[in-house]
Amino acid sequence: MASRDLHTFLACCTIVLILESVLKTSAVTPLTDFMISKSVTNHGDLTMFSRIFDKFDYKRCLKITAIGGSVTEGHWNHTRIPVNLRWPGLLAALLNARFPCNDPAGHVAQNQGRGATPTSAWIETLTGQQEVQFQGVDLVLLETAVNQMAEREQAQIDAEILMSMVTKQSRRSMTKSQLEQATTSDGQFIRGFTGTAAMWVVASTRRFVTIWTGVPYERISDAMYAQLPVAQHHGVPIISAIDALGPFPTSEVQAWFNQTWYEGDPIHPNQRGHILIADLVFHYLKTAYEHTRLFQWHALPKDYIPREPMFLSRDILNMFLDQTPIKINLANMNDILRRNVTRCSGWWAYADVPEKIGFVAINVGSSCVVPLKSDEVSRLSVGMAHVLMYKSYENMGTFRMAIMKGRMGVNGMCEGADDPNAQVLGSMIVDSLWKSKASLAEVSILHFELPTASDKSACLLVHLDVVESKPARLKNKVKLLGISFF
Ligand SMILES: *[C@@H]1O[C@H](CO)[C@@H](O)[C@H](O)[C@H]1NC(C)=O
Ligand SMILES: *[C@@H]1O[C@H](CO)[C@@H](O)[C@H](O)[C@H]1NC(C)=O
Ligand SMILES: *[C@@H]1O[C@H](CO)[C@@H](O)[C@H](O)[C@H]1NC(C)=O
Repeated sequence: MASRDLHTFLACCTIVLILESVLKTSAVTPLTDFMISKSVTNHGDLTMFSRIFDKFDYKRCLKITAIGGSVTEGHWNHTRIPVNLRWPGLLAALLNARFPCNDPAGHVAQNQGRGATPTSAWIETLTGQQEVQFQGVDLVLLETAVNQMAEREQAQIDAEILMSMVTKQSRRSMTKSQLEQATTSDGQFIRGFTGTAAMWVVASTRRFVTIWTGVPYERISDAMYAQLPVAQHHGVPIISAIDALGPFPTSEVQAWFNQTWYEGDPIHPNQRGHILIADLVFHYLKTAYEHTRLFQWHALPKDYIPREPMFLSRDILNMFLDQTPIKINLANMNDILRRNVTRCSGWWAYADVPEKIGFVAINVGSSCVVPLKSDEVSRLSVGMAHVLMYKSYENMGTFRMAIMKGRMGVNGMCEGADDPNAQVLGSMIVDSLWKSKASLAEVSILHFELPTASDKSACLLVHLDVVESKPARLKNKVKLLGISFF
């Protein structure tokens, strides 16, 4: 046996043995110190965690929120891992054992995992209310790398927006005097820290696409390398289970990884995987805490200072952090009907796949007009619509969205949906078929002209149409989840 093979063999067998002994005993780490250190892909700025570490000292309980995709939601091999055995629940149990706290409920890790939901879809969901969602939360764990299919530049923009939504104060929630205090004499607004820490958690490397073999700085199976520079700039840690276990350069290691991590499922980790993820996040918090208590050379700084955005302009980030978009929820038929939609045929809100409701049309020619009343239009200041829609690799069709100018009628309705000469304020065509072997919610952006502020009776008519693809297809499904107007 060549020495390299022997090395691989020993490494695999040792890990398998450790994993097996662990599963038979309890949820204690099956990993070596070396693997734990490999998992810390970015160490982060510990000032972001000083409030959390103080809570450990004072026996105060943490409120943690995990947002992410199906892995966090516990999907595995056509079934669900029980809630308390999913990694956020296991993490809370580990924290309660090591850092007991005074509230009988203990440390709580709320699991908000939602299948097929990448970074951009989370941004859409949170915009306009992130400070409410994260009110009183000490730590937000972001597990969105595996569903991040966007190209690198967009992935970095999305990553910067999402982590800013966690860590940076929104002007929406600030009082007048807080706003004055945060503004310098030359009128510049300095955004403060919310007090909520962020951490990225990388949970999987898909077998659908090329498995990670160790090619430097590229991993198409998750967006960790795209997120890394953004996390470095903002001092947000990245804890990666895949980096603890991998890379997977040989077929032996790949087979081992298949058997110990996936076991019958091409995307989601099994129960063992959830134990590993929880252990790694726990170890990070524990060793970073111990470090801040042991380090004696000088007093460590306490306050995290938010960084200026580096991957998108400050104006666009301000839009996401401060604005309240007009949101149209398209995942509920009652909400849609309450909007007084007109000229609708072929669209209906239902779950075409279990548990995933959307506004679905399956035929070319399906159409619907959603009005936005003048009082809503007067609250828009950018002229941008974000459409959250499913993209998939089969059965999908082409979607056209056009925003026309309408006029408020005496009955309180926006009129003009039948007017062939209505002014087009903006339109786009989006193909919801893509090559990626995944079905995910993605955001498409439409820029449109806003009616002038003096035009008080102007309203918007949003035309949703399924159009013929080129070349024509047999199946033409389009599925929308919601639209946000800025
Ligand atoms: C995965 O699910 C399939 C279908 O339900 C089942 O036959 C198989 O035994 C499962 N695999 C494991 C490892 O549980
Ligand atoms: C790992 O699993 C994938 C998907 O089932 C399969 O295509 C691949 O051949 C497996 N690799 C090994 C080395 O077993
Ligand atoms: C729907 O139409 C009614 C009048 O029939 C109107 O009072 C109501 O405000 C409309 N709702 C919306 C959201 O446009």
